[in-house]
Amino acid sequence: MEQTYEQLREECLNCRKCPLSQTRNHVVFGVGIQNAEVVFIGEGPGENEDLQGEPFVGRGGALLDKYLAAVDLSRKKNIYITNMVKCRPPQNRDPKPEEVASCVGYLARQMEMIRPKIIVCLGRVAACAMIDKNFKVTKQHGQWFEKDGVWMMGTYHPAALLRNPHNKPDAFEDMLALQRKIREICEHTYDGTEL
Ligand code: URA
Repeated sequence: MEQTYEQLREECLNCRKCPLSQTRNHVVFGVGIQNAEVVFIGEGPGENEDLQGEPFVGRGGALLDKYLAAVDLSRKKNIYITNMVKCRPPQNRDPKPEEVASCVGYLARQMEMIRPKIIVCLGRVAACAMIDKNFKVTKQHGQWFEKDGVWMMGTYHPAALLRNPHNKPDAFEDMLALQRKIREICEHTYDGTEL
């Protein structure tokens, strides 16, 4: 029998596949609409996310929500948000390749269930894993890549924008490009009906 979203979430919440499971407070599985046409993927939970069990809830999350709202997107209404790794790397270091490798099966199964039309990678770690291992955010942000029928874009990570606010106008342009792409290829994201 096929696994349901809830079963996958339950499995992930009990995961002990890598050492990050020993230091986590909460597994941060993902949040939002389970059949969203647009999915955002970050790197991994930070301190606030680890404490609350939800992605992007700290200062970076507040900034992300502002950018989303500017193009009529919200985790409560029409998108889904998750991370490459579901447990917090200590001291917010980058997740190690073997941690990503242990965890990526959860993301793959999430994507199989949600079947998004568009994936937005927030920052280098997600863009390198999902789009191209040599992805350069400063050079390639906002560009579209089609992979197996899914349109993918990499943009700045909200934490990077807090550190380097001069990149905010470029990040906003990327959101406008996303809005255009949604209008072009998504049926339900902006039509106000329940997804
Ligand atoms: N940074 C991420 O990449 N993901 C989160 O959920 C929070 C901070």
